[in-house]
Amino acid sequence: MDETAAIARLKSCGVIPVVVIEDASRAVDLAHALVAGGIDVVEVTLRRPAAMEALAAIAKSVPKALAVAGTVVTPAQAQQVKDAGAQAVVSPGFSESVDEALRKVGLPWLPGVATASDCMRAVAAGRTTAKFFPAEQAGGPPALKALSGPFPQMTFCPTGGVGLKNLGDYLALPQVICVGGSWLVPADTIAAGDWKRIETLAREAKEAFQKARA
Ligand code: 3PG
Repeated sequence: MDETAAIARLKSCGVIPVVVIEDASRAVDLAHALVAGGIDVVEVTLRRPAAMEALAAIAKSVPKALAVAGTVVTPAQAQQVKDAGAQAVVSPGFSESVDEALRKVGLPWLPGVATASDCMRAVAAGRTTAKFFPAEQAGGPPALKALSGPFPQMTFCPTGGVGLKNLGDYLALPQVICVGGSWLVPADTIAAGDWKRIETLAREAKEAFQKARA
């Protein structure tokens, strides 16, 4: 999938679930529950040993979900997530070496940005869609609005402290294509295998996105 198609998927999904998974055997059911609730993108963060296997399981068994690798912080992980079947990549920050590695393997990438210097490096590398992270802690919608001024070519996915209460404030900014967060995929709910609850959280998130966009 090329960058344009991947970004279109993020944009239409609206809310990107940021998954921290401890047990890869839960991954497929989790992705099915999200898809059932209208969320067809799953970002599996490489923060736990089970993450790569979880990503591979979703990529293989849940074709309706866009399998995204999150928390990719080293160039070596580019090939690993490609091999696992990732269709796009998200990072918490920007690095030239990760940019280069992802170009080599041909995966779309949202680097993380929080400052004007980050945005300058991203733009210099030809990366114009970024994760704004950590969104709330970096100043929230007013900070993102100010940061967008000098970078009219950029679009953003704010993540970090985003939830049902404030997603509308971000989506009101024209530069924001989607938001991300972990609130719709609580670790204890995944561990308990409460897929109905995940489906409900996904549906609520989708409805809040649609309402904000209406
Ligand atoms: C991320 O990596 O995107 C964040 O950890 C998600 O932030 P949240 O837990 O505040 O939603």
